[in-house]
Amino acid sequence: MKLNNMFVVFEGPDGSGKTTAIRAVADAFRERGVTVLCTREPGGSEAAEAMRNLLMQDTMRDAPVLSQLLLICAARVAHLRQSIEPALARGELVLCDRYVDSSYVYQCEIGQLPSTTLDELNRVLAIRHPDLRLFFDLPPEVAMTRIAQRAEGNRFDADDHAAWMRVARAYQQRCQVGKGYAVTIDASADKNTVVEQCLAVVDNQIGRNGSLMQECP
Ligand code: TYD
Repeated sequence: MKLNNMFVVFEGPDGSGKTTAIRAVADAFRERGVTVLCTREPGGSEAAEAMRNLLMQDTMRDAPVLSQLLLICAARVAHLRQSIEPALARGELVLCDRYVDSSYVYQCEIGQLPSTTLDELNRVLAIRHPDLRLFFDLPPEVAMTRIAQRAEGNRFDADDHAAWMRVARAYQQRCQVGKGYAVTIDASADKNTVVEQCLAVVDNQIGRNGSLMQECP
């Protein structure tokens, strides 16, 4: 079985379980005989991962947000040209952990860059739109518990809580706008239920796009 040109991105705040869900969704499609590329941003190709390492350095924290955004866009172009587009051309299913909506959330909404700057960069750089955007949504208490477990009991104060809420709200707003069919996933459910929701939405999108599933000899 072969699946053509399906580019799905997973968006949502920290602790929403995107990364775990992507792995499980990928496994489910591989069991059906579909070739899957699981990837992430920033990063996802050798050059883009090198740019991610640069972005994650402490010194970059003090850099202007515009410099961060330009580096993220540079990494995105490399990721698209070197990993995503070749995989789509081979007829693979591409599942990506964070994409353009994360730039609108972190660099525009939180970093206060005008979203028109990113709109224009996307246009000039011919940034490809995803076919489907899955927005993981959950109450802050659930996310905080998950993050605390991951961080081995680190406690979160009121500032962390407020910052998380701003990010979560910005993702909720992005779900209403932007290019690429957008669906909210109830990420407060248990892992299996979240994965089932994702699979149902991807299958539904395959139906919308027409007969993407082709029998191969
Ligand atoms: P992620 O890999 O989810 O972080 P971690 O490995 O720490 O769980 O994402 C890396 C960080 O990059 C995350 O804090 C969000 C941020 N980011 C942006 O600021 N802008 C972007 O466009 C993207 C894709 C990510």
